[in-house]
Amino acid sequence: MEKEKVIVLDFGGQYNQLVARRVRECNVYCEIYSYKTDIEQIKAMNPKGIILTGGPNSCYEPGAPTYTKELFELGVPVLGLCYGAQLMMHVLGGRVEKAPVREYGKTEVMVDTTSPLFGDVSATTICWMSHFDYISKIAPGFSIVGHTADCPVAVAECREKNLYAIQFHPEVLHTQEGTKMLYNFVRGVCGCAGTWKMDSFVENSIKAIREKVGKGKVLCALSGGVDSSVAAVMLSKAIGDQLTCVFVDHGLLRKDEGDEVEEIFGPKGQYELNFIRVNAQERFYSKLAGVEEPEKKRKIIGEEFIRVFEEEAKKIGAVDFLVQGTIYPDVVESGVGGESVVIKSHHNVGGLPDCVDFKEIIEPLRDLFKDEVRKAGLEMGIPEKLVFRQPFPGPGLGVRIVGEVTADKVRIVQDADAIYREEIAKAGLDRTIGQYFAALTNMRSVGVMGDERTYDYAVALRAVNTIDFMTAEAAEIPFEVLQTVMSRIINEVRGVNRVFYDLTSKPPGTIEME
Ligand code: XMP
Repeated sequence: MEKEKVIVLDFGGQYNQLVARRVRECNVYCEIYSYKTDIEQIKAMNPKGIILTGGPNSCYEPGAPTYTKELFELGVPVLGLCYGAQLMMHVLGGRVEKAPVREYGKTEVMVDTTSPLFGDVSATTICWMSHFDYISKIAPGFSIVGHTADCPVAVAECREKNLYAIQFHPEVLHTQEGTKMLYNFVRGVCGCAGTWKMDSFVENSIKAIREKVGKGKVLCALSGGVDSSVAAVMLSKAIGDQLTCVFVDHGLLRKDEGDEVEEIFGPKGQYELNFIRVNAQERFYSKLAGVEEPEKKRKIIGEEFIRVFEEEAKKIGAVDFLVQGTIYPDVVESGVGGESVVIKSHHNVGGLPDCVDFKEIIEPLRDLFKDEVRKAGLEMGIPEKLVFRQPFPGPGLGVRIVGEVTADKVRIVQDADAIYREEIAKAGLDRTIGQYFAALTNMRSVGVMGDERTYDYAVALRAVNTIDFMTAEAAEIPFEVLQTVMSRIINEVRGVNRVFYDLTSKPPGTIEME
């Protein structure tokens, strides 16, 4: 059965992935493509609807991103958002120019509730605006179905051709009824049935994996993170003991994490899979001894990881397939999908293919956003604790210990981090903060404990809110919570006499310390 699909054409806006995620929340499958994608390719995909994203340009300037008029004549519903809305007007004969008043932030929009976009939406609704240009004249055949105090055309429609132009950003949560509007477009105007659901995704993927693998042997590098865990469980459900998972404990995991992963995936766990745990702590510590430079540390950890994995793979013998936990944002960020050119320089522990002799890669989560991976995980019965685990970098605590890594510093940061996580959870903040952890600075300072002088390390607490991990803001944690964490760390973790809270955003900082 052909999957119903909506296409998001990316004009370089910062919310491109958000648009796609919101559409998927309406149970409609959708993919992001660059605005440079050829019209023939779009036709071949047979989309049920097309959404044009925002973007930083002015559509009337020479060389600005554009699209052929034919796009609006395919008979496929099109929704333009911000830049996409202006472009639609510009291409179809309206006028766009610099606005006398720039609108930015939450804005009251008065909408015509008889428009198919606004079924169930309030006549006056709060929306997120961010634009310098405005539509000063709508294209022929369109009518205005939304305005604000400063913007005469906040929404325009040509109902008979199913073309809609929205000046604000329904995909952003500040637009209070934005999801309803997107729902009205994809489910109402485009007529999508809403068949994109995680239970059927899991079921179909398992079937497809079975067919692909046949009687082949499959190898998976399991890190205990969400993506590789969900991928491993899916494979195990599909092909049982044809799968082997290798879990390398590099001694840079969070407190008790190695044992927790083993408890779930090992012989006593709920899954029947061949699970190999390699305790390589000493090996990593000795390679890291005396090394302070962050990039060097990252390289050593990455390379050693490969060596260990390779040795295990050799013991297993020739494998036919290697599993990778690639998810959709990785695909988009690596430039395959949208317009964005940002590529993470991070190495992922899943990214090992060139060291192992195998025929093909299996990427069962390639189409999913992180929240969908989590839903798929829950669907397959993976414990919530694991499914909602914090993102954790491949080099682990190695990049949370500034300077040389030693077993003792690992102990300090593990214990401090465990306390921090416990208190954040107690305060009910664990699902609201994007990412939080304790790190160990390389600074030692003088303190006094009891009547004794101390000369110990300073722990830094980090907590950030972020949409995409490319930019981030320090999270506001109540002062009492920070105080509790501070006093527990100082009292319970030997070797620490100071605790800092890191206020730095990204940029200029990064989320991790190194
Ligand atoms: P930074 O520190 O670059 O981190 O602001 C952004 C996000 O990426 C995670 N991170 C990594 N993930 N391998 C990974 O798989 C890595 O080498 C790596 N380094 C950073 C980090 O935890 C944050 O979520």
